[in-house]
Amino acid sequence: MSREPLIAPSLLSADFARLGEEAQRVADADWLHFDVMDAHFVPNLTFGLPVMAALQKVSPVPLDCHLMIEDPGRWAPGYAEAGARNVTIHAEATADPRAVARDIRAAGALAGLAIKPGTPLEDHLDVLRDFDTLLVMSVEPGFGGQSFIADVLTKVATARRLVDAGDMTLLVEIDGGINADTIEQAAEAGVDMFVAGSAVYGAEDPGTAIAALRAQAAAAMRG
Ligand code: DX5
Ligand code: ZN
Repeated sequence: MSREPLIAPSLLSADFARLGEEAQRVADADWLHFDVMDAHFVPNLTFGLPVMAALQKVSPVPLDCHLMIEDPGRWAPGYAEAGARNVTIHAEATADPRAVARDIRAAGALAGLAIKPGTPLEDHLDVLRDFDTLLVMSVEPGFGGQSFIADVLTKVATARRLVDAGDMTLLVEIDGGINADTIEQAAEAGVDMFVAGSAVYGAEDPGTAIAALRAQAAAAMRG
């Protein structure tokens, strides 16, 4: 089955004082990943809905909101209403992911389910039919620039098999530690969408970094 790699730079590694310009610098990306942290679900605090809504108006790239927050049902639909392309919530943060997915979709966005490195995919397979994207975390959520946890690729491979067998329709996304050294193994395991923070915004030219990552992933997918 032929797939095209999709690249989502993470603004977590961008200059927070110049978010609009930082979005322009990755205009060739597929999605722009927007990491929302609430200092409760994760031990870090970033930005929230008002910043996302402002950025949405100027970004040349659709926003991919990754909500690392408690009580996502309360906040997630607002991101969809503000124009996010995809809104991802954490499986560990809600008792009723299906209801949140329904509200996100009703507000006009794709709905994503994220799982931390230690969270088994099997625990959430039944609800994935109600989601459009699966975000497999390959670092503990909270910070950019951490090392890739390769063990999570077994979850990617399982999701890929289910999608390719027609059991569910899902975009498989990976987040954390993706760079020139790790993107090929992720592509081979079955990832569609690659989030990369430090590897893109830490590069001299983010556009060149995106093109290089895309080419590496495409070659690995062709096998
Ligand atoms: C971590 C965030 C990631 C982060 C990835 O909690 O969800 O999106 O920005 O950063 P890198 O690519 O540097 O590991
Ligand atoms: Zn993220």
